[in-house]
Amino acid sequence: MELERQIKPVHSNKTAQDYSLMTDKEMAALKSYCTDKTVIEIGSFKGASSKAIGKVAKRLLCIDKFEPLKWGDAIIPSTLAEFLDSIEGLDNVSYLKMSSDDAIEQIHRFEKHPKADVVFIDGDHSYKQCLRDLQHYIQVHPMVILVHDYSYMFGGVIAACQEFFNRLPDGLTDSLAVYFV
Ligand SMILES: C[S@@+](CC[C@H](N)C(=O)[O-])C[C@H]1O[C@@H](n2cnc3c(N)ncnc32)[C@H](O)[C@@H]1O
Repeated sequence: MELERQIKPVHSNKTAQDYSLMTDKEMAALKSYCTDKTVIEIGSFKGASSKAIGKVAKRLLCIDKFEPLKWGDAIIPSTLAEFLDSIEGLDNVSYLKMSSDDAIEQIHRFEKHPKADVVFIDGDHSYKQCLRDLQHYIQVHPMVILVHDYSYMFGGVIAACQEFFNRLPDGLTDSLAVYFV
C-alpha cells in the first residue's frame, strides 16, 4: 500500500514491551498469522502490537486516532510519541493518524483495489464501531481477520463478531479471535 509515513520517529528510553496490552500467547499467535503478510492494524496505542507485527510482516499499515483517551476517571494523553518510538527503524510500517472510518476512505482514495492479507482489529471496542470496522475492512479482501478482546469483558466485540460472521471464531488464543474469510 503506497501510504507514506507522516512524521519521523522521536526517541525515548521505553520499549514497546513496556506497553503491551496483549498476553505472550496472543502476541505469538498474532505474529504467526502476520508473518510475511500485508497487514492492516486498527488500534495501535503505544505500538506494542505494531512493533511485533512490523518485525515479521511484509508491510503493515497502522490506523489510530492517537487522541487522548478516557480510562475510568483518568485521561491518557496521546500515545503518538511512544508509538513512533516503537516503530522506529521498521521501514515496512506506515500509519494513518485518523479514525478507522476516515482511514478506509483514504485507503480507497489511494488504491483502486485495496488489498491486505490480514486485518487486525483492536480499536474502539463498542458493538457499533467494531461492527463498522468489520464491515469496512472486509473491503480490503483479507484472508484472515483477527479481533482482539473477544472476551466477556468486551461484550460489544463478541456481539459485533457474531452479527458479522454469524459463527464462533475459527480459533481463539486467550482473547485473540481468528476468522478465516
Ligand atoms: C486497546 S488499544 C490498542 C492496543 C494495541 N493494539 C496493542 O496491543 O498494543 C486501542 C486503540 O484504539 C484507538 N482507537 C479507538 N477508537 C478508534 C477509532 N475509531 N479509530 C482508530 N483508532 C481508534 C485508540 O486510540 C487506542 O490507541
